Amino acid sequence: MESTAAAVIVLAAGAGTRMKSRTPKVMHEIGGRSLLVHAVNAAQGTSPGELVVVLRHERDRVAAHLAEHDPEVAVADQDDIPGTGRAVQCGLERVTATEGTVLVTYGDVPLLDPATLRELVAEHEGAGAAVTVLTARVPDPTGYGRILRSEDGSEVLGIVEHKDATAQEREIDEINSGIYAFDIEVLRDALSRIGTDNAQGEMYLTDVLGIARADGRTVRALVTADVMMVEGVNDRLQLAQLGAELNRRTLERHMRDGVTIIDPATTWIDADVSIGQDAIIRPGVQLHGACDIGAEAVIGPDTTLRDTEVGEGAEVLRSHAVLAVIGAGASVGPFSYLRAGTDLGARGKIGGFVETKNARIGAGAKVPHLSYVGDAEIGEGTNIGAATIFANYDGVDKHRTVIGNQVRIGSDTVLVAPVEVGDGAVTGAGTVVRKNVPPGALAVNAVSQRNMEGWVQRRRPGTAADDAARAASAERSGPIAGESEQDDREEQGNR
Ligand code: UD1
Ligand code: MG
Repeated sequence: MESTAAAVIVLAAGAGTRMKSRTPKVMHEIGGRSLLVHAVNAAQGTSPGELVVVLRHERDRVAAHLAEHDPEVAVADQDDIPGTGRAVQCGLERVTATEGTVLVTYGDVPLLDPATLRELVAEHEGAGAAVTVLTARVPDPTGYGRILRSEDGSEVLGIVEHKDATAQEREIDEINSGIYAFDIEVLRDALSRIGTDNAQGEMYLTDVLGIARADGRTVRALVTADVMMVEGVNDRLQLAQLGAELNRRTLERHMRDGVTIIDPATTWIDADVSIGQDAIIRPGVQLHGACDIGAEAVIGPDTTLRDTEVGEGAEVLRSHAVLAVIGAGASVGPFSYLRAGTDLGARGKIGGFVETKNARIGAGAKVPHLSYVGDAEIGEGTNIGAATIFANYDGVDKHRTVIGNQVRIGSDTVLVAPVEVGDGAVTGAGTVVRKNVPPGALAVNAVSQRNMEGWVQRRRPGTAADDAARAASAERSGPIAGESEQDDREEQGNR
């Protein structure tokens, strides 16, 4: 049976004091998404009729964050009456449904998945229950609400909060996850009847179970074996623990889907990353944001990619890329930095110690060594010689450089933007290109070289260089060349 809730209410009004953070708790991230977005995704995964998030602490900031993710999600504001019961009551004010099932979840429980929520709805509706609570058995139940059952354990009688529990009740190891399916009418009615007469002076949502039960309705529990899935984040330790667990689950999913991950212990992959079949992820790789890795690509070792697309069969070795596109069969690295707007064509190459930014590099084009390529367009099959610099910044503005197809840029060329080099053109080593180069032309402007023979012997006598030069001359058995006055004069003039 495919079950859908009429509404999901996600509670996120709490202050999250134990995080000791300037950032609202539910905006902290694991796996590249905020805790709240994880919770909202799980809720949306069940295709509910309505979705409401209850806010209070840092309301505007959290609401803006939520709208960025999905402007359709409704926000309900909790007033200053505290407690989960009041939070749900405020949430219900934004729910229009008058019958059916309402799911309640928490904004700080990031590992909960839609399948479990659907199972909860199915169990709940299948049994005709008024309330079904998701529970778990844990080794240390301290702090949690405990599930009170009938003597034979078959029926749920209610929930008692840790602070209100007797010593005997504290022995119970079945805890309330805080995730429930409710019949909406029962929920509205019971909430109107709960008070704040408890250890914390709050409206407890958990009291709804006792009220429903006292009214003779069916109250059930669905016990999950997956404790991590219902665990909440209260402090930074739990944030790290659940982050690691989410990562472990993400890696497992990719491995089951046919991705080789050599060393899961040093690999971090965000929840939104997609990876094609037979890709190989080597040790020390971090894939953040919305990376999309093609089939048979090889990433790493020691590579970090954010929001980067890697084509089929491409290889990225010991590099860092942000908002870049790496074409099929292309290769990158080692030790290169691809910044936003880098678009490397199919079978192209960005070699070692290269920085690129806002640069479209054509199919089969190569930037093999020690270069900076910024605000550039490079045509197909073009080769950029070692240590070429695209001087894109004149100190005030940034300018573009356009290089044609099959161009050969000589080593140590400086391309002073804005400038264009036509198809098939060549630049000599060390050229400073300030004027456009027409197709097929050779551009050179380096000063021609003069050798001042014997300079070392005259100016640095007795040095190791002098000894080496003399030994070399002796071997040639000729006189040491160039001891003329004229050479010295020329040299002075050239200082
Ligand atoms: C609650 C449950 C407890 C359960 C535990 C599971 C109640 C009374 N107790 O306890 O049985 O074992 O969760 O983690 O429900 N929130 C609001 N408004 C509020 C108070 C809380 O929106 O006024 C939200 C929080 O942001 C959070 C969630 O509700 O997402 C739980 O709040 P928290 O204070 O952690 O509840 P617990 O006291 O831990
Ligand atoms: Mg809590």
